[in-house]
Amino acid sequence: MNTFAFAPELTTESVLAATKISVDQTIDEVMNSLPRMDQLSSEQRRGIIARYTAVLEGNFIYWMTAAYLAVKSEAARPIIIDNLTEEVRDSHPAMLRRFAVAAHAFPTDSDALAVDHELTQMRLFFGRLSGVQILVTMAFFEGFIQRYMSYLADLAVAQGSSELEYTDVHGVCDIAHTEGLIQALSMEMALNPLAPDADIFEGVRLLESLLNRVVNVSGTPVAA
Ligand SMILES: [Fe+2]
Repeated sequence: MNTFAFAPELTTESVLAATKISVDQTIDEVMNSLPRMDQLSSEQRRGIIARYTAVLEGNFIYWMTAAYLAVKSEAARPIIIDNLTEEVRDSHPAMLRRFAVAAHAFPTDSDALAVDHELTQMRLFFGRLSGVQILVTMAFFEGFIQRYMSYLADLAVAQGSSELEYTDVHGVCDIAHTEGLIQALSMEMALNPLAPDADIFEGVRLLESLLNRVVNVSGTPVAA
């Protein structure tokens, strides 16, 4: 992804605009790196679905909860609460598990371990409860998930599945959520500023690495 060094004289508006552009560019980069559907074997398609499930099923609500605990401003709270309520009420983890099982792609221990290093880095990042960094990361994650759904659905259909509730629900265009999280940044930056030497995109970078591991067709963990 591109990096920005935010000069101190930049206005909040210009920082938000630059952040939005960088988040969108990083989503484009991950989307452009996806292997072409017609070049994937059945096992490679299964692996991508399985690693995605290994990451999302047990972590999305956990990380959105970290966002709730980390933010100090009121602006982001209603968006985060909305999101958590929907996740829990409609049991998105159960929906994702049904999606993976129907595609014969429920994660094995090898699938889970293939993403272990990058997943652990993300967990440690969220554990630091840095409001600004987490808001940018979740804006990126929400935007990515929405763009990725049609690809994920195509993988499942190619595996013979017709259980697409998960991808249908998450593919609905909800620009308001992603943009709301970015907008909430301005209040968070004022109330809970990032240390001057901190990287606003640290979580986005870590999540990009994790997503690259998910869609890597070999699924082989990189040697540390
Ligand atoms: Fe969800």
